[in-house]
Amino acid sequence: MGGRKKKDGTVKKVTDRVSSNMLESHRMAIVGQLFRGAAHDMKNPLAVILQGSEFLGYSETLDDSAKKIIGMIGKAASRIDVLIENILGFAGPATGEAQSTDIRTLIDESLALLGPQLSNSFVQVAKDFPQSIPGCTVNRGEIRHALVGMLMNAADAIPEDGIVSIEVRQVLYESGKSSVAVMVTDNGCGIPEDNLDKVFDPFFTTKKDRGRMGLGLAAARDIVERHNGHLSIESKEGKGTSVLMVLPAE
Ligand SMILES: Nc1ncnc2c1ncn2[C@@H]1O[C@H](COP(=O)(O)OP(=O)(O)O)[C@@H](O)[C@H]1O
Ligand SMILES: [Mg+2]
Repeated sequence: MGGRKKKDGTVKKVTDRVSSNMLESHRMAIVGQLFRGAAHDMKNPLAVILQGSEFLGYSETLDDSAKKIIGMIGKAASRIDVLIENILGFAGPATGEAQSTDIRTLIDESLALLGPQLSNSFVQVAKDFPQSIPGCTVNRGEIRHALVGMLMNAADAIPEDGIVSIEVRQVLYESGKSSVAVMVTDNGCGIPEDNLDKVFDPFFTTKKDRGRMGLGLAAARDIVERHNGHLSIESKEGKGTSVLMVLPAE
């Protein structure tokens, strides 16, 4: 195996890159484990705060202003609780069995998980869901992971204000089979044509400065293909990007 010739004529060994990437992903796996442990440890003291504030809320000896403060403490604690649940759901082991799933629910869960990141920017989210959609038999944690990666990319691509639209459709085939399609479209920076065939490569990223690792689309495609589905991308530089996930329907 040789190296890839860089513009300045130097050759960077592909093997160097691979081993440092492996170290990096190993480090990430350890960070994930530590985080899961810490999140579990936070649940118990948090439960004390939640139950304590609920109990005090019913107290007859406290005045209204004290109860108001206790209510605020309870609300703040339950927000942390939701965040921890979301992180545990996302970082948790992807061992779950495949289950009959409404893809709209997974999208909503992914949006909740990304809430803080989406609302920090001026990103608008527009959902276009049908009234009813067949279920898909999927590993929920994995498909949620793929969706979060797609949504995060859309948010990343939008510099200031912009729109991320999420469209869900049923696709019927002549054979009588059907699929569920999820299209995530953003009107962000788009992808230069030269990069389009690299975006599914593991560790390909144009966002190293933002701490991204280049695993989002590679992982998403791997997950979707293991579910016998397809993941594809279309983009125009300066205009925006659409990522299409197609999963077999039940
Ligand atoms: N919606 C998008 N808009 C613009 N560029 C995108 C989008 N999705 C992916 N890309 C490009 O593809 C690259 C790889 O994406 P991904 O695998 O998710 O890795 P990461 O987000 O960690 O960089 C990104 O660095 C970016 O250059
Ligand atoms: Mg990404």
